[in-house]
Amino acid sequence: MPSVYIKTYGCQMNERDSEAVAAQLVAKGYSLAASEHVADVVLLNTCSVRDNAEQTALGKMAAVIGDAKKNRPGQVFGFLGCMAQSRGKELIDRLPDVDLVLGTQKFHRAAEYLDDLLAGKRDQVVDVEEESGSEGTIREHLLNGNAKARSVTAFVSIMQGCNQHCTFCIVPYTRGEERSRTIPDIVAECRELVTQGVKEITLLGQIVTSYGRRGRDASSPNCSRDGGGALHALRRGVAATPFVQLIEAVHELEGLERIRFTSPHPKGYGQDLVEAYGRLPKLVESAHLPVQSGSDRVLKLMHRGYTRARYLEIIRQLRAARPGIGITTDIIVGFPGETEADFTETLSLCREVEFDNAYLFKYSPRKDTPAAAMPDQLPEALIEERHARVLGLVNEIGKRKYDALVGRKVEILVEGPSRKNPARLTGRTRCNKIVVFEGSERHRGELLDVKITRTGSFTLYGDPAIVNL
Ligand code: SAH
Ligand code: F3S
Repeated sequence: MPSVYIKTYGCQMNERDSEAVAAQLVAKGYSLAASEHVADVVLLNTCSVRDNAEQTALGKMAAVIGDAKKNRPGQVFGFLGCMAQSRGKELIDRLPDVDLVLGTQKFHRAAEYLDDLLAGKRDQVVDVEEESGSEGTIREHLLNGNAKARSVTAFVSIMQGCNQHCTFCIVPYTRGEERSRTIPDIVAECRELVTQGVKEITLLGQIVTSYGRRGRDASSPNCSRDGGGALHALRRGVAATPFVQLIEAVHELEGLERIRFTSPHPKGYGQDLVEAYGRLPKLVESAHLPVQSGSDRVLKLMHRGYTRARYLEIIRQLRAARPGIGITTDIIVGFPGETEADFTETLSLCREVEFDNAYLFKYSPRKDTPAAAMPDQLPEALIEERHARVLGLVNEIGKRKYDALVGRKVEILVEGPSRKNPARLTGRTRCNKIVVFEGSERHRGELLDVKITRTGSFTLYGDPAIVNL
């Protein structure tokens, strides 16, 4: 049977999509190849959030094709995901040897198209159409694949798309309108994962705080369930949002230890979600809450729908509900028209919040987005300079926060051997910090208390002598 190599660029959703495609192909008899050099099919699942991600993927594909022409005739090449969606056939015009271009609503058709391409029944396939119901198609997992023996953690896609239309963002175009899966469908997938030994589930979506508010479920967000969520809501006299109802439903799964989610949007971050942190122990003390900028003027230009003050208020409430909660964010540096004063507000917001970590993005104009047509696009040198300044600050604050954990005991979920040094094990704290320690493989999947002895760059090290065996 044919072998496939899938390389992923981009976010956790792309990782999850690739995993689902790989699982689908494995179920059809394909094997997973260790590299593009030994595969019959090479698929690149590509991000288009910034231009350099696209350029990296295009360069990679050109190199793979060039090499294959010399060494591997007959190899099949495909682009999947966001870039495939936004560029479509243009990718084949540019790289005529590409056989497959598969959009974000078509992952479930990968096996069928590849079978046809390999059998010579089709020449080239470009499928970037919308497909209703596609939000429910990314359900296969590869828990027991070669790479991920006995996975302890899993990602579950709860919705597709985004309607927020931040002025810089291409995602609403590549992922389409918001479409949510139903609660029973998601819970069934989570239950199956738990049965297979998964202890931690991350609920995934571009804007999870909008879960169930639009699209198919909008008319009956809690159609699927009438349990604790509704009861809690009644007691409080407020309606729990569909997203909180979903968390409550997943929380009931016996054997599941931890729940995470990414990414919420500050605009939809209601009181009920803050309260959920206060009362649901499996919801870990960790929040990734993209802020993008500390300046109200820029937030407005970005169409983010909240102010700096509102963002800070959410952070304050979360810390009140869960002291010590780990908070991370996304920041864009160099949005069109960003002044030194605006940028200084982003720096001061970082100082005020003290993020555990922040993912910094240099603004990149994206096709058809309003921000790309805004006046006063900043020169690259200025964006670089500001990026370096905020990076220095984020690293300094992060180091201080990590160092403060030295000597403390933390609960970690052991995920398996460390990627950098397979002789050691790795796990994450409830606050989502990576801990590396020496221990035995038999601890995989266990919750352990480890004492932190030292820190590295956004990494904690635990002392094996103090692991409670
Ligand atoms: N809501 C999604 C956002 C996906 S894009 C989520 O958080 O999962 C991820 C991040 O990329 C955004 O939060 C933003 O910080 C950054 N980003 C998006 N478009 C960008 C652009 N045009 N230039 C630079 N960074 C961008
Ligand atoms: Fe993009 Fe804003 Fe949605 S960043 S994914 S348009 S919330």
